[in-house]
Amino acid sequence: MGKSIVITSGKGGVGKTTSSANIGIALAMMGKRVCLIDLDIGLRNLDVVLGLDNRVMYDIVDVADGRAKLVQALVKDKRFDDLLYLLPAAQNTDKNAVNQEQVKDIVDELKPDFDYVFIDCPAGIEQGFINAVSGADGAIVVTTPEISAVRDADRVIGLLEQHPLKESPKLIINRIRTSLMQDDSYMDIDEITTHLGIDLLGVILDDDKVISTSNIGKSIVMDPDNPTAQGYRNVARRLEGETVPLMNIHNSAKKEGFWSKLTHLFSHKK
Ligand SMILES: Nc1ncnc2c1ncn2[C@@H]1O[C@H](COP(=O)(O)OP(=O)(O)OP(=O)(O)O)[C@@H](O)[C@H]1O
Ligand SMILES: [Mg+2]
Repeated sequence: MGKSIVITSGKGGVGKTTSSANIGIALAMMGKRVCLIDLDIGLRNLDVVLGLDNRVMYDIVDVADGRAKLVQALVKDKRFDDLLYLLPAAQNTDKNAVNQEQVKDIVDELKPDFDYVFIDCPAGIEQGFINAVSGADGAIVVTTPEISAVRDADRVIGLLEQHPLKESPKLIINRIRTSLMQDDSYMDIDEITTHLGIDLLGVILDDDKVISTSNIGKSIVMDPDNPTAQGYRNVARRLEGETVPLMNIHNSAKKEGFWSKLTHLFSHKK
């Protein structure tokens, strides 16, 4: 029986969809069977990032409403034999077109056939978030090193604590810019992790190639030499239970003044 993991953030645009695609591909490259569910209904993107947009026939709303069987809606990524599948979101429907029970039923139907089912969550903490979480055994919270993203991640972690999943949530800090790490206003990996109080699953560099590869449906994780790709592959290995040291990203600057200013903005932790 596979594991279902929601990839969420609160704040929009921090890298949920990019993380879903790259982690999913990294696991498929390790021989794992992976299904990616795009739950960003109305704003689907994962099909484009995976280069599968031309092959979408049905979507999750069609499955929920009984217009298509689950197996008909799954799109196979032919680059990875029989290992990576996408269940697309609907494009022209409102985000309430599926409910919690429908999402949970679909995820439960997928789990026996896959090692991992990743649920790409929409931004926000409304119904779309609740739907996405309802099918999940675990969560990956994505943030960037910006105050607004960290605060929203903190809020999401607070909500996940109110309705605990089977596994405790894990953190990815995305878009790290090493050139800014000595800057007083830049957030430090250790301090973000300590403040949010969940285990760090990985750090991903800010890299223009993430955007250029996504734009042509070719995820960066397939590049054998790129350090950002290595970051995603390390995340996949950690999910598989391997102990993989963090990449050597310079992270020594002390910014206590900045963090004491930040602390009062957070509510759910003392
Ligand atoms: N590590 C990175 N380096 C550079 N660009 C990145 C990185 N991660 C994500 N991006 C870019 O940031 C943008 C937003 O990423 P993405 O769509 O994955 O975010 P999201 O959290 O899914 O957004 P939404 O909340 O709208 O669903 C995209 O253009 C993506 O290519
Ligand atoms: Mg997205």
